[in-house]
Amino acid sequence: MAAHEVPAGPSRTRASAAGVYDWCLGGRHHLDCDAEAGIEALRRLPTATLTARYNREFLRRVVRWMVEQGIRQFLDLGSGYPTVGNVHEIAQDHARDARVVYVDLDPDTVAVSTRLLADNPHAVCIQGDVCDPDAVLRHEEVRRLLDFSQPAGLLMISVLPFVPGDAGPVVRHYKSALAPGSYLAISHVTPPEDDRAREQQAALAASYNKTVETPARLRTREEILALFARTELVPPGLGRATDWRPAPGHRTERDDQAAAVLLGGVARIP
Ligand SMILES: C[S@@+](CC[C@H](N)C(=O)[O-])C[C@H]1O[C@@H](n2cnc3c(N)ncnc32)[C@H](O)[C@@H]1O
Repeated sequence: MAAHEVPAGPSRTRASAAGVYDWCLGGRHHLDCDAEAGIEALRRLPTATLTARYNREFLRRVVRWMVEQGIRQFLDLGSGYPTVGNVHEIAQDHARDARVVYVDLDPDTVAVSTRLLADNPHAVCIQGDVCDPDAVLRHEEVRRLLDFSQPAGLLMISVLPFVPGDAGPVVRHYKSALAPGSYLAISHVTPPEDDRAREQQAALAASYNKTVETPARLRTREEILALFARTELVPPGLGRATDWRPAPGHRTERDDQAAAVLLGGVARIP
């Protein structure tokens, strides 16, 4: 076991999606097996950690923007280990009474997040499977903190790669629970256009899915766009996550391969 902080909760010996992602972000919650899987991923695709960083930055910009639109409650599906600039920190920085329910499948992630949120009456983390929307939406903590008769922010940030098969019905189920004026945010990895990069990413996916307990999959732009069906995409629409309302001066180069493989978009529920 690594010398860095090891979360309370069930121990595991296989790398997890949350742990590898935490390692990519330079966080404190991963185990040695996560770091090994991360290093192996970087060997196959050296831009992987930068993509993780772009993803997290997209999440933060999205939450800030949703708060500016008046959103005061968030359901964050596949929330991951808490790192600096969590959803509740950004939202409550703007609005102290903003409510956040984090949901993750990984018990370690839930244990660490629960510890972190112990003194926060407006934010909780529950264990749940994004693929079981009924169970998530009926969870007593979700019902206690979130009021679905009012607009909410639904965050599906790099969690849908872990939903096998057609993610459409799952996303549709969550969307149907949201009040008009709510917002849905999705980020998702996609195959690169460049042949060599596509080969590297296929090698990464093969290695990742062999070592990490939750297999991930890529989706094409068309497949991701279809997940926004019956919503109104907010400008600039679905595109590189880095291009979604970037902070002034932070636009990435067109040939940035780390940016090219991560699509992001936000839509309003009519
Ligand atoms: C790549 S991380 C993304 C974390 C965070 N959303 C972000 O973008 O910064 C993916 C997270 O999804 C979680 N996850 C994977 N499959 C899941 C499932 N079926 N239900 C809920 N969470 C899941 C993993 O445990 C991990 O924490």
